[in-house]
Parts: sequence; C-alpha cells; structure tokens
Amino acid sequence: MLDFQAILESIQKNATEAPDKGAVATYIPELAHISKDNFGIHLRTSDGKSYGAGDFNKPFSIQSISKVLALSKAMSLIGENIWKRMDVEPSGHPFNQLALLEIENGIPRNPFINSGAIVIADILLSNLENPKEDFLNYVRDLTNDQTIEYNQAVADSEKRTGFKNYAAANLLKSFKNLDNPVNDVLDFYFQQCSLEMTCSQLTKTFSFLANKGTCMLDKVRLTETQAKRINAIMLTCGFYDEAGEFAFEVGLPGKSGVGGGIVALLPDNFTIATWSPGLNKKGNSKLGMLALEAFTTKTKLSIF
Ligand code: DON
Repeated sequence: MLDFQAILESIQKNATEAPDKGAVATYIPELAHISKDNFGIHLRTSDGKSYGAGDFNKPFSIQSISKVLALSKAMSLIGENIWKRMDVEPSGHPFNQLALLEIENGIPRNPFINSGAIVIADILLSNLENPKEDFLNYVRDLTNDQTIEYNQAVADSEKRTGFKNYAAANLLKSFKNLDNPVNDVLDFYFQQCSLEMTCSQLTKTFSFLANKGTCMLDKVRLTETQAKRINAIMLTCGFYDEAGEFAFEVGLPGKSGVGGGIVALLPDNFTIATWSPGLNKKGNSKLGMLALEAFTTKTKLSIF
C-alpha cells in the first residue's frame, strides 16, 4: 500500500532544500515579485481521497493551465469545428514563438501555444453571451467552488506588456483566423490567463479529465472522446518544446503555466498539481517537473 502523504511530504522536503529553484517569470511584471520559496503539491484520487504538502492551499496565477479549460469549453460549444482553425501537432518551439505561425499561414500548431489559445479565446468570445463571466462560472462549476476569481492586476499587467501576444493576434487576424477585433480577443485571453487557483482546487477542476469527461461533483461536461482528445494534446503539447521531456521523465498528460503551476493526471486514477514559481529555461516550473518525476518514479504510477 502506497503512503501518498509520506511521499508528498518527502517530495516537498527535497524541493524546499533544492539549491536551484529556477527563475520567476518577469515578462508579466505582476508575477515578478512572487517568492520562489513557495512550493505546494496536492493529489486527488478518483475514489475521492486527497493528500497535500506545503503551500497547496495558496492561490497562484494559473496562466497557461487555463488554456486546457478554455479548450474544453470551446469543445463543448463547437465540437470538432475547432480543428478547422488549428492543428493538434506539437510545435517543438517555445509557447510564444511566431515564425511557425507565419510559415503555416496563420494555422496554429495546437491549442496550447499562445497563438492557438488566442484562436480558442476568439471562439469563446463569439459563442458566449458574457465571455469573462461565463468562463469564470464554467471553471467554478467544474470545481464546485464559487470562490475562484480572476486577478485583475495580473490581467492588466499583461495587457500593458504582452507585445508578442499582440503580434500573434495581428498575424492571426491578417490570415483571417480571428473573427473578433484583436483587442477584444486579447482582453478576454489575458483575463482567462489571470485566473487564480490553488493546487487543491486544480486537482478538483481537472478531475473530469481523469474521469472520462464526467465532472466528479455533478454533471457530464464532455464526452469520453473529447476527454481523450484533450489528454492526448496535453501529453504531446502541454509543455511546448519540453513536452517530450515531460513524457519521458514523468509519463503523464499535463499542463504548465508561467505562474509556476503544473497539473497532471492518470486517467481513472488521480489528478496531481504542483506549484513552484521558479521556471526552467523552457518556461516550465523547474521544481514542479522534478516533483512529478519523483512522484511517478516512487509510485510507479504513469500511463506507460
Ligand atoms: O500569454 C502568455 O504569455 C501568458 N499569459 C501565458 C503563458 C504561459 O503560461 C506559458 N506556459 N508555460
């Protein structure tokens, strides 16, 4: 019998003592002052048990992790039509790279690089009555937690400094892959990325993807096939040009964000989330990746 609590505590101890905690993202000024000494890890099993160590109840900026939730909402609204506007291939490049988008005529490689997520934001803008409010309510309902909020200072900070995202959105618009005005799409995209959640909330939110699309707490949100597709894209594209490394070291579908969060899952078994704000050179949480590698190594629980 695995002692999950003891495993999480030993992972947290190693993280606390790690000499190199990576570097906090500074390109969104509002994220630059978060301490690298924060570390949280939380595990939720499909049979309803949960375990946590460290700062697993402290909210942080989930950033790109929100792209998975936006994709799931877009899938529930327009289904397979999404794939007319983007592909499902790993890009092999950083999340904000623009060159490939121009070469490939404004069709993003996948929904998790920024250009793909901006197209998803455009889809949500076209299909939701009150996009910011409706998306927040969707995430709150998935989690069964009405306390989840956007962080307006983070959204405003990125709105002032997100020049590469303006470039990506303009490029998409020039290729006619955005229906709404560039500024409206980015206003929603920055808001979506500013969602704040704890590791414990994230393991709840993502349970539906470990559970064949059925939300743990109430209604069905996605079909089994849609959940399979999202998990496949997380495995192949969830960590950008480090997706291969994450599959190699950890062996789970997962998604990172520049706020230092990572969420990963084993279908029919568990969801797990880590938060450590220091990033490695590819923009993924340095200690979060090491923690998840330690978890799947110690427990031998992975998809492979
Ligand atoms: O668009 C951006 O650059 C940020 N709002 C999100 C990027 C991000 O989290 C990349 N993930 N590791």
